[in-house]
Amino acid sequence: MCGIVGGVAERNIVPILLEGLKRLEYRGYDSSGIAILDTEEQIQRIRSLGKIKNLEQKIKTIDASNLVARRRDDQNFQGKIGIAHTRWATHGVPAENNAHPHICNNRVAVVHNGIIENYQQLKTQQLEQGYRFTSETDTEVVAHCVHRELVNVINNITLSNTTSVSPNVTPTVIPSEAEGSPTDNTQQQKILRQAQDDSDLLLQAVTNALKHFEGAYALGVVATDDPDTLIAARKGSPLVIGVGIGEHFIASDVSALLPVTQSFIFLEEGDVAKITREVVTIYDVNGEQVERPVKISNLTAHAVELGEHRHYMHKEIFEQPQAVIDTLEGRITQDHVLVSAFGYEAEAIFKTIQQIQIIACGTSYHSGLVAKYWFEDIVGVPCQVEVASEYRYRNPVIQDNTLFVTISQSGETADTLAALQQIKLLKKVKNIPTLTICNVPESSLTRESDLTFLTHAGPEIGVASTKAFTTQLVALSLLLTAVGKSMSLMSEEQEQKIVHGLQKLPGLIRKALQHEEKIIEIAQCFAERESALFLGRGTMYPIAMEGALKLKEISYIHAEAYPAGELKHGPLALIDEHIPVVTIAPHDDLLEKLKSNLQEVKARGGQMIVFEDEQSNISSEPGFRVIKATTNVGRITAPITFNVPLQLLSYHVALIKGTDVDQPRNLAKSVTVE
Ligand code: G6P
Repeated sequence: MCGIVGGVAERNIVPILLEGLKRLEYRGYDSSGIAILDTEEQIQRIRSLGKIKNLEQKIKTIDASNLVARRRDDQNFQGKIGIAHTRWATHGVPAENNAHPHICNNRVAVVHNGIIENYQQLKTQQLEQGYRFTSETDTEVVAHCVHRELVNVINNITLSNTTSVSPNVTPTVIPSEAEGSPTDNTQQQKILRQAQDDSDLLLQAVTNALKHFEGAYALGVVATDDPDTLIAARKGSPLVIGVGIGEHFIASDVSALLPVTQSFIFLEEGDVAKITREVVTIYDVNGEQVERPVKISNLTAHAVELGEHRHYMHKEIFEQPQAVIDTLEGRITQDHVLVSAFGYEAEAIFKTIQQIQIIACGTSYHSGLVAKYWFEDIVGVPCQVEVASEYRYRNPVIQDNTLFVTISQSGETADTLAALQQIKLLKKVKNIPTLTICNVPESSLTRESDLTFLTHAGPEIGVASTKAFTTQLVALSLLLTAVGKSMSLMSEEQEQKIVHGLQKLPGLIRKALQHEEKIIEIAQCFAERESALFLGRGTMYPIAMEGALKLKEISYIHAEAYPAGELKHGPLALIDEHIPVVTIAPHDDLLEKLKSNLQEVKARGGQMIVFEDEQSNISSEPGFRVIKATTNVGRITAPITFNVPLQLLSYHVALIKGTDVDQPRNLAKSVTVE
């Protein structure tokens, strides 16, 4: 999804913005752009379709004639204040003219994440006012709107200064020059510069403009009229301020700014910030000046670097043993789960609940589905799971005393956040405590939930989620135990068994990772295939769903997951020697049933790839390729462990297919729009 980076410094900002954009690449994007105020305080902008390296190349080769605004010399593309953006198309095709920043009259430049829902209406008004549009985006209305408000603010100032400063200046209505045309009245600008010291031109203009927008935004704005000021605003899309010494930055997430700072201010809903080199001043949704704490991130720039791995996805798959250790740390003792890991009031809350509603999207939804089996099988607590995009647009019946759990790697997924916000409205009349299981501290979901459990997976850069999913399952197993204990539905012996299983998990995952060579061989079977089927029963069904999702996300092979018992109700018709059937076969109560399902596939000539427990004893034979992926896994550890070889399988199929593993086409890491 779109990414913002910006900054104001004493040094040239361009390399910082470019590095920031590269660090936001993982979010998914189709084009990028950068706008700076150059040494003459003119807006210069460069945009490019495709990868950041295209933008970088353009910057390197730029000459004066390529620049958007007038240039009076042949200086390089340099400036001390600027904004930059990676765009993930929502309104308008991926194209250079739709890439951000969008500028108006060479006076205002804007980058935007989110969607301005009333942009059509604003566009109609702006066309009548004489503004011209050069893109199909919703964002261009923001640039025009800020420009119009800026002119209004300026007119008010000039009106009150004209008698004393210059009798010849007439307040302008709205100029309608196209991009690249000369800037507005220079005499007026001179007057403004005099008045500027005690006014907040751009802050006022943006604050006024925001009143016109419906929808969601994170915004970064610069303007030639207020050349030392960067304005940031947030509503519905995340934005952080990076605090440096004599320099300040903005970004969609902290990872973009780690090379320049580890101190961050997390803007809250409705905040608008005026950012200069020396000072950050924040105003809340009511326009009151507020102090927001500066938090120190414990992430290092190194945490988001690739190291020896070819792709982030591979790196993240291999980080899973450590991610599990980090997620368990401080949350369990030798034999027990600490209920307080979910917050000091967690135990009191868990005692009151009667059922659980889990809401999530994508991979996170699959972790919720696994948890449903656990909650209902192990502690007998009713548990519903639903994708957020459906839940938020129907009228769900939610019972009193429901624990409402959102699961999200990013904590910013728009649908999940909207579902939570909907529930918060009901909290006045019902007891619906909310908990989020999330990987990103200070994200929107963590701020809006009563309880938070942070998975300590570390930054996940690959669009296809791997270690975040694994740690979500760990978190859910801890939640299962914490709820079971608090409700007196779990014996001490059961708790110990779960805790001891979790302690073994890093070792089990390491062992599963050792099968990479065999998986590389098996991946060859998929090279020429157009479809694949994934089968599982019990908790292995959601794991099969996750395996199928991974394969389609990164290799673009159509893949579907089925509960193995449903084969005979349809998918059996698809089976022939061309469709690989991936099956997960743990040594559990359902194994014999699963074996019968496999025979049904074999009888139709299907090509089976079976990941089994050493104790499952499915032998390799024609039509069956069996990998003993693990041994002695328990109820909780089985789904987590069996998922690992499926991740590796997708990864190696994608390598063979030559796809963009970390940034698959059309997908985004963090989906902050509907
Ligand atoms: C996007 C990502 C998926 C992720 C889903 C939910 O679709 O590409 O990997 O599972 O969003 O994201 P969340 O951050 O809420 O877990």
